Amino acid sequence: MQRFTTIIEPFRIHAVEPITMTTREHRAEAIATAGYNVFGLPADDVIIDLLTDSGTGAMSRDQWAAIQHGDESYAGSPSFTLFRNAIQNLFHFKHVIPTHQGRAAEKILFACVGGAGKVIPNNTHFDTTRANVEYTGATAVDVVIPEGRIPSSQHPFKGNVDLDALRRVIVDAGPENVPLVMVTVTNNSGGGQPVSLENLRGVRAVCDEFGLPLFLDACRFAENAWFIHEREPGQAGRSVRDIVRDMAALADGMTMSAKKDGLANIGGWLAMHDDALAARCRNLLILTEGFPTYGGLAGRDLEAIAQGLEEVVEPDYLRYRIRSTAYLGEALLRAGVPVVQPIGGHAVYIDARGLLPHIPPLQYPGHALAVALFVEGGIRGCEIGTLMFGRHPDGTETPAAMDLVRLAIPRRTYTQSHMDYVIEVVTAVAAESKSLRGYRIVEEPPQLRHFTARLEPIAD
Ligand code: F0G
Repeated sequence: MQRFTTIIEPFRIHAVEPITMTTREHRAEAIATAGYNVFGLPADDVIIDLLTDSGTGAMSRDQWAAIQHGDESYAGSPSFTLFRNAIQNLFHFKHVIPTHQGRAAEKILFACVGGAGKVIPNNTHFDTTRANVEYTGATAVDVVIPEGRIPSSQHPFKGNVDLDALRRVIVDAGPENVPLVMVTVTNNSGGGQPVSLENLRGVRAVCDEFGLPLFLDACRFAENAWFIHEREPGQAGRSVRDIVRDMAALADGMTMSAKKDGLANIGGWLAMHDDALAARCRNLLILTEGFPTYGGLAGRDLEAIAQGLEEVVEPDYLRYRIRSTAYLGEALLRAGVPVVQPIGGHAVYIDARGLLPHIPPLQYPGHALAVALFVEGGIRGCEIGTLMFGRHPDGTETPAAMDLVRLAIPRRTYTQSHMDYVIEVVTAVAAESKSLRGYRIVEEPPQLRHFTARLEPIAD
């Protein structure tokens, strides 16, 4: 018998959510009303929502059953025990501190270890991580390998840390001013690119040289482990669980958003070995999130996450997950649409500056593409470029390093025919790319302007 190669969704659909099929005219009006900002759109005007993979996935039958099992005791809930055990089964950290999402874990960690004069190296800080570091007066420094900054470079582990750059940052800052080193798996801001075990071992060795702790920003740990399984020599025969345990064993702690590889709609945690640091973090947790056995979550959320952690390391799930992202990216490449390569784990990033060379960066080519994808096909992606990063605290504006549109894929939510539709729409918009025009900002807030700015199209 032949071997069948079609990778199918490894689930059947048990409950359905209707999608409202809107017209082009309706969408053109909706985006104008939203000030040409996709964040201002009512979600039921969107046909395929690829704004983020965070908290937007579908939960399984067993997760919904776990929700019913949730125990809402204020202190000592058995749901917390299940949550902690599920985490410690993969990540052997002594202390597990639940939070309502990833940025709450970051806020507590950096409030305890950050402060003026401190320096935090990371392959690439995600925006909330950078913001939480900088909010304490500390400096966030990105030390990803040079290939990680080139959209077309084909390195298998583009999220890797540049070990020489890391050592330089530590020496320049003085090791006493570096409270910890962080590694983000996978590297979201760099295109959802993985970090190899070998590189993590290298980071561990640099940390040991200077006596520094290593923390993982582990939001997409299972996707990272799958890439290690697929791409790293000697790892193919190993289970994803064991690879995750190896990643964790190299670290002293982690921050986590369970909205990604926790397969949940809300939640997160902070975990570590250090008793004294954990005590300080718990004190702050009680002040800002809640008692240490629920930390801003309902007991039912803790149970949904515990069950999600069982499912997310299943090879059938991960094979489908990573393949479905690559399916979208490879089809766009075949259609001549420039995308960040290799295709990452959770999203496809279109190089809008490459596709729309006639729109100058200060007229936001990524934004122009994101608006066109919505108007033409009801697809909502997100600009990651000059609109997001172009404005500086001193009021000046410069082009961002890249102008990308991220199509982030919610977990277990859309089928292959949904992706075929996305491919058709993006290909059609790309074929008419010369007709797209830039945008100007009419109104913008002082910080994080991309969420609420109002824009207008620039006429010919
Ligand atoms: N770290 C990384 C690498 C992330 O991608 C995110 C969130 C966070 C931390 C913060 O977690 O949202 O639970 O507070 N990323 C989402 C995204 C928002 O769309 O990429 P959170």
